[in-house]
Amino acid sequence: MTPRGQPDAHPNTPAATPAGNGSVPTRPPVVVRRLTEADPIPLITALLHRAYARQVSLGLRPLAARQDDDVTRRRCASGECYLAFGEEDPGRPIGVIILNENEPDEGPPWFMRPGVASFSQLAVDPEMQGRGIGQMLLAKVESRAAEAGNQELGLSMAEPDDQLRDFYKRRGYRIVGTWKWPYTNYISLIMSKTVG
Ligand SMILES: CC(C)(COP(=O)(O)OP(=O)(O)OC[C@H]1O[C@@H](n2cnc3c(N)ncnc32)[C@H](O)[C@@H]1OP(=O)(O)O)[C@@H](O)C(=O)NCCC(=O)NCCS
Repeated sequence: MTPRGQPDAHPNTPAATPAGNGSVPTRPPVVVRRLTEADPIPLITALLHRAYARQVSLGLRPLAARQDDDVTRRRCASGECYLAFGEEDPGRPIGVIILNENEPDEGPPWFMRPGVASFSQLAVDPEMQGRGIGQMLLAKVESRAAEAGNQELGLSMAEPDDQLRDFYKRRGYRIVGTWKWPYTNYISLIMSKTVG
């Protein structure tokens, strides 16, 4: 188990390309660690709004695209929230995910099954997408869910977002149902991956 606030270092290194001087250029490291009380909630809210803007442009109304800081604080505190940070600006979160968020609204039956954990509010700053940071955040909650004895890790995503569905399918998630959350204007796909 990762103690609260302890980072998981990850080199986030692309395919090694030897430089002329024999050294191997790498991207700056990214660390994933648990949210602490010192972390800036407004920066997380702003990151969520930027990341979910693409779904808004598709006509969707995800909560994360419009939630205020109080909602971000409540959501992050209700489960295990992890943040990703780059080395360039170690005080600015560039990614976020919540394991086992305690939702006030009724959730899909799949999430209630014994041995099923779930995650939510996954986002990576659009400027930093495509570098494996989303994969790092997923790997963190998948390993945490397995360590806690779960067999499955579920998620809920906007059904019309084909690109996102394919992102999860390539990472081993399969469709197990649908759900309609009261605060959105779309049906959600419930997907799940065997982790234990
Ligand atoms: C889904 C999301 C978290 C993925 O984060 P990410 O850091 O880009 O993820 P990764 O870098 O691990 O993988 C990105 C994928 O897009 C590809 N990609 C390539 N270039 C890319 C680019 N410029 N921008 C985005 N993705 C790119 C990557 O190759 C990878 O595809 P793969 O499945 O073939 O490996 C991010 O796109 C996001 O924040 N989306 C908006 C919020 C959202 O929809 N969250 C999920 C709600 S359920």
